[in-house]
Amino acid sequence: MRSRGSERGKGETLLRLESRPLIVYLNGRFVPREEAKISPEDRGFVFADAIYEVVRFNRGRPYRLSEHMDRMRDGLQAIRIAADPGFFPAVASRLIEENRLDGDDVLVYAQVSRGVAPRYHAFPPPETEPTIFAFARPTDPPPPSGGGRAILAPDERWARCDVKSVMLLANVLAAQKAREANAVEAILVRDGIAWEGTKANLFAFRDGVVRTAPKGPRILPGVTRGAALEAASGLGFRVEERPLSVEELFSSEELFLASTTLWTYPLVEVDGRPIGDGRPGPVAARLCEVLQTEFRSTLSGRLDGGR
Ligand code: PDD
Repeated sequence: MRSRGSERGKGETLLRLESRPLIVYLNGRFVPREEAKISPEDRGFVFADAIYEVVRFNRGRPYRLSEHMDRMRDGLQAIRIAADPGFFPAVASRLIEENRLDGDDVLVYAQVSRGVAPRYHAFPPPETEPTIFAFARPTDPPPPSGGGRAILAPDERWARCDVKSVMLLANVLAAQKAREANAVEAILVRDGIAWEGTKANLFAFRDGVVRTAPKGPRILPGVTRGAALEAASGLGFRVEERPLSVEELFSSEELFLASTTLWTYPLVEVDGRPIGDGRPGPVAARLCEVLQTEFRSTLSGRLDGGR
């Protein structure tokens, strides 16, 4: 069973959330969402000059939090924002507590921008404080259980997709294209390579090999991607981190997405063409089970929330 909680449970959570103000975190304070105000001159707003993370928690325990924090640290360094992701664990715990989400499956979002300053492109004075914003909410409703349909879309993102920047306009436009085509995701294609989705990494399975694009500037190094590769090796599959061409994509036995929000999730059709036999395959399901089992074991054991 997936650990997202039942639809009924989710409905109850949403009702509970609606009947009281949502508490968010902004620059050191926990405040009702309506009171959280950010300057229009915030560089996150004006330039998308910011880094973000999304971490899954269940009953207050995180999934691979240290890896998310490492990625946030790398991203902040890459774009030279002098902030430390050390705030994350305590802020996330308090958000979960304040919003009474301790019993739920939750996503915690946090973003750090370069702060507020008059609009000049180059960096503001070094004393400018970064803006830190975070919120918690129940995980999204589960996608269709029979697997999802995807479309191909041109990858129009910047050349540093490994940096988890909030500059997501190309992702937003492709995701909307997918929605309008009644698909769950758009697979982003550049130079004939299917790199990843708008909000998830892409995996293919064929001839006993689990394959995904290599780390590098063309993809986000997903935490779930790493976990799925480990799980695949553990199950005895060969794993390859190698670009997947569009032709290879269509000749896969299985295709699946991997992300914090989805775990692993099968794609059964791309641009109207079936993948494999057009039904969810066993590999994505087994990997999903391994990841969720790992998560459940962290729930019952470790208190440090590290992994
Ligand atoms: N997205 N690739 C892209 C482009 C992503 O935006 C994400 C995550 C992933 C998967 O990374 P991870 O396994 O660490 O979640 C891959 C988040 C969930 C989002 O934007 O909401």
